Amino acid sequence: MTKILFVCLGNICRSPMAEFVMKDLAARAGMDAQFHMESAATSSGEVGSPVYPPARRVLAEHGICCGGKVARQLRQDDYSAYDLLVGMDSGNLRNMRRICGGDPEGKMHLLLEYAGRPGEEVADPWYTGDFEAAWRDILSGCQGLLDSLRAEM
Ligand code: 4NP
Repeated sequence: MTKILFVCLGNICRSPMAEFVMKDLAARAGMDAQFHMESAATSSGEVGSPVYPPARRVLAEHGICCGGKVARQLRQDDYSAYDLLVGMDSGNLRNMRRICGGDPEGKMHLLLEYAGRPGEEVADPWYTGDFEAAWRDILSGCQGLLDSLRAEM
């Protein structure tokens, strides 16, 4: 089983969107038993909060439910518990390395690497208000990630 942790600043917009998009894609591909997906925040600011309503609405428009998810913070021991830790922007990656004490096994990546867009960031809808743009980026990254994992299996 491949364990994937999606990470953003608050764990109420981008990383839960990625978690539930990836779960949906894996289920549609009949591969849900082969993956474990979760998401976490680098900050403590939203710990315990549900998914932000506009993010929840975009998911719901695409038939994806994220009920029950509440934000939790990344911990150092997540590094050994997961095979891949996937951040949304370069600030996330910096904070992920700080919390986990580096990335000695090369498990940390930016989501858009998997969309063939290395170094690019998922725009933060918390600031842009553009949850559709975040949806498009996240869907494209998750599709690429699923394809790359499938190719390895
Ligand atoms: P996320 O969005 O990192 O995609 O969950 C944010 C949520 C909260 C804040 C910033 C970004 N905040 O500053 O509270």
